[in-house]
Amino acid sequence: MEEIIIKKIEEEEIHKRVKELADMINEDYKDKNLHLACVLKGGVYFACELSRHLTMPLTIDFLSLSSYGDGLTSQGVITLNHDLTQNIAGKNVLLVEDIIDTGKTLQYVENMLLKREPKTFNVCTLLDKVSRRVTDVEIRYVGFEIEDYFAVGYGLDYAQKYRNLPYIGELQFKEEA
Ligand code: IMP
Ligand code: MG
Repeated sequence: MEEIIIKKIEEEEIHKRVKELADMINEDYKDKNLHLACVLKGGVYFACELSRHLTMPLTIDFLSLSSYGDGLTSQGVITLNHDLTQNIAGKNVLLVEDIIDTGKTLQYVENMLLKREPKTFNVCTLLDKVSRRVTDVEIRYVGFEIEDYFAVGYGLDYAQKYRNLPYIGELQFKEEA
């Protein structure tokens, strides 16, 4: 099968929206410290760009989870591959994700992190496939709500490919002639 990418969200549109989200976060966390907890690997491009627009005293840490194999649908089992390296107790934590789909991954990570007693906990995601949600999770900052398509680019992958695309595209498969 041939993989084709159909452009959905332009690079400029992403940059503009990331800046808007950063403005909201700067306002909400004015005079506070913020600790970004970025979910690897997909959230990295977003977290890096977002962080460059943030003006409060900021720290960043990373964690890695698996919920998808190399396929298009969730395997339903979430594993923690790499934990945060810093303690979050008493901190204002903002979890940065690439995409929230069913919300199962977010629910897992939220349960895990809330046990560590952060002072506050909020979620920021670049993309939200809201029609696919099966969990009750609250997301404070959403870049773009998208329909139910498989998104790649700007950090999002299919079988580890396409993360480096500067735009968001829809992955489609075409029978090879
Ligand atoms: P959830 O647990 O169903 O919300 O899935 C969340 C994770 O699945 C995301 O953090 C992504 O890593 C992956 N994922 C879900 N939808 C897509 C997509 O359209 N493109 C790429 N990865 C996706
Ligand atoms: Mg992810």
